Amino acid sequence: MPISDFERYPLLFGPSPVHPLDRLTAHLGGARIWAKREDVNSGLAYGGNKTRKLEYLLPEALSQGADTLVSIGGIQSNHTRQVAAAAAKAGLKAVLVQESWVDWPDPVNDKVGNILLSRIMGADVRLVRAGFGIGFKESWQQALDDVRAAGGTPYAIPAGASDHRLGGLGFANWADEVAAQERELGVFFDTIVVCSVTGSTHAGMIAGFAGQDRPRRVLGIDASAKLDETRAQVAKIAHATAELIGLGRELRDDEITVLEGWAGEKYGIPVESTMDAIRLSGRLEAMIIDPVYEGKSMAGLIDLVRSGEIPKDSNVLYAHLGGQPALNAYSGLFQ
Ligand SMILES: Cc1ncc(COP(=O)(O)O)c(C=O)c1O
Repeated sequence: MPISDFERYPLLFGPSPVHPLDRLTAHLGGARIWAKREDVNSGLAYGGNKTRKLEYLLPEALSQGADTLVSIGGIQSNHTRQVAAAAAKAGLKAVLVQESWVDWPDPVNDKVGNILLSRIMGADVRLVRAGFGIGFKESWQQALDDVRAAGGTPYAIPAGASDHRLGGLGFANWADEVAAQERELGVFFDTIVVCSVTGSTHAGMIAGFAGQDRPRRVLGIDASAKLDETRAQVAKIAHATAELIGLGRELRDDEITVLEGWAGEKYGIPVESTMDAIRLSGRLEAMIIDPVYEGKSMAGLIDLVRSGEIPKDSNVLYAHLGGQPALNAYSGLFQ
């Protein structure tokens, strides 16, 4: 069924803004760089990529009579903060399992930024000791059981809203939004750069762009430091989403590109290239990016433009997926 036929619960302001990054472009001396800003896509608790995905999950939750959204992420998860926001907006409760995915020594890591915002929005925030992983988790099952035992009706949202039948739709629709903005701006973005961890942002884009007639490259930059898992998850969700929106053909392998080289050793821990990217984007464009996700994808973009791997005559669109609230837990990096 075409994507326009899927029900969407409005959480966004409308299309997210697209604008050129002229000072960054001049500094790197290569392709023209633009950004599409999911970090300002919504008035709900700073928005971000998950807000866009959740527009397609909420109608199902409501039609099933759910009263509680149950989800999972790291302590500074942007995703769980956006689940808390969507729940507040729709008049639902939220139970959030916050695992210690990142061994980060900041003394206020579990008090500021995303987790603070989720608490303000009234979510039931549960701190659990368990490491990074995007797959199925026992603690999440426990939270679902707890809601049922208390007489509630939970709606399960996996990490990043990714491993979910509808998880790719938000960014499949983003591809159509980009095409409409291109017509308005009179530009064609031949290359898209996007951060990839739980996979459905990148996967949704692949499925969405595959239905358009002009070929372009959608380059995922791995920020999980587990390239094989990320690639497998992106491929799985891209294929499933393509089928769901009636693409009518199989995706080719060359449409699924996840690049490594900027994640560092571990998810959630910035490396030198991440820090350089954060500073450069702040100093040249006042565009704030975080050390867990966007700092890593921007580091990738910088290298790919500088090296000419993205050619000089390209128009490249950087998908800014949000995530700035987590910066509050990383203040020690900027003293
Ligand atoms: C700010 C930000 N950027 C990028 C990502 C990666 O998106 P995805 O998990 O859909 O691959 C996330 C979430 O994981 C995020 O919060």
